Amino acid sequence: MSKVRLGIVGVGIIGSFHIDNIKNLSNCTLTAICDVDPAALERNKDKVDGLATFNTHEALLDSGLVDGVIIATPHYFHVPIAMDAIKRGIHVLVEKPIAVQKSQAEEFVKLCKENPHIVASAMFCLRRMPANMKLKQLIDSGELGTIRRINWIITNWFRTQKYYDSGTWRATWSGEGGGVLLNQCPHQLDLMQWFFGMPNKITASVFFGKYHDIEVEDEVSAIFEYPDGKTAMFVTSTGEAPGTNRLEIAAERGKVILENGEIYFYRNETEMSDFCKNSEVMMAMPTVWDIKVPISTLNYPSHRDIIENFADAISNGTALYAPAVEGINSLELANAMLMSGTLQHSVELPIDSAKFDDILNNFIKNSAKKG
Ligand SMILES: NC(=O)c1ccc[n+]([C@@H]2O[C@H](COP(=O)([O-])OP(=O)(O)OC[C@H]3O[C@@H](n4cnc5c(N)ncnc54)[C@H](O)[C@@H]3O)[C@@H](O)[C@H]2O)c1
Repeated sequence: MSKVRLGIVGVGIIGSFHIDNIKNLSNCTLTAICDVDPAALERNKDKVDGLATFNTHEALLDSGLVDGVIIATPHYFHVPIAMDAIKRGIHVLVEKPIAVQKSQAEEFVKLCKENPHIVASAMFCLRRMPANMKLKQLIDSGELGTIRRINWIITNWFRTQKYYDSGTWRATWSGEGGGVLLNQCPHQLDLMQWFFGMPNKITASVFFGKYHDIEVEDEVSAIFEYPDGKTAMFVTSTGEAPGTNRLEIAAERGKVILENGEIYFYRNETEMSDFCKNSEVMMAMPTVWDIKVPISTLNYPSHRDIIENFADAISNGTALYAPAVEGINSLELANAMLMSGTLQHSVELPIDSAKFDDILNNFIKNSAKKG
């Protein structure tokens, strides 16, 4: 097949970046862009020869110029635009998060399942980072043994007030629908579900505008409980500097630390439960081998990798790295933490999407800021 013709809806910060990503790929070409802001179109229109510009997504989708579309608007528009594309037989690559609330994602997933010929991918680009790919392989191969406890501190999403003031939609209930859980953390929440599956209970403390003049959450501490008995702590903030990004896994075969793109595996010679049961000594520990896990040094830009894979899936039926339908899981984690923090009690998963809608609508109704 000739090059896949792609369009981008929303050419703000990340949409403009995707223009350059596409220019560097050989299996697709950018034919059209759309933005409701004429200034955004003006800034980007000359980046590719012959690029068509549109001020509504419907006009772009009806132009006959695109086989697939990347949706890089504020989150609330992801699902309506993706659904309009799918109904026209156009493939979709949706930015993260795939939606703001689970009910919206449910509608999208239903439409995707009814249209299996449509390629629907999501921009969960962290799945393509070498250390994350290696950790996934270690977990799936059983190398770590049964996982008992997880601790992810992801507090290096530091953002200044200027960032939040840079777009009227940002950090408002009506314009964005959430804060750090919905904007920065979808990446880590996608990895949480990709690595460890879904919990069945979440208890969270959520702080709104703790560090910034915003109405949505900028600090969260949560405990996840899983059906197989493992537990996880998930801690995030956009207000701490320098902050930390450290994932620690306590498994039967040892402790794994993923930090700064490197993986250290402190491997138990004997599984910890066996040692605990069978040791004749009161305070001994299993012998540990310290291993720095070799990771590919290939540093292929991960956003570009997802776009290339999207175009390959359209042309050749290649399996997707990040199917969009899986995006409902990270969204469910974000919604569940917000729900638990707001109601100030634990919530069972899967959450009731209508109940979450009530909570969000209440925030929107009482909001002082309009996005
Ligand atoms: N995958 C990543 O690493 C990554 C990084 C940054 C942002 N994002 C996601 O991308 C999305 C956009 O974020 P951003 O930082 O680029 O925002 P932004 O505000 O810089 O850009 C959004 C653009 O969409 C346009 N827009 C708004 N409504 C539209 C509509 N209905 N139709 C067409 N255009 C419309 C705006 O005018 C603006 O130019 C968000 O959902 C965000 O979570 C993903």
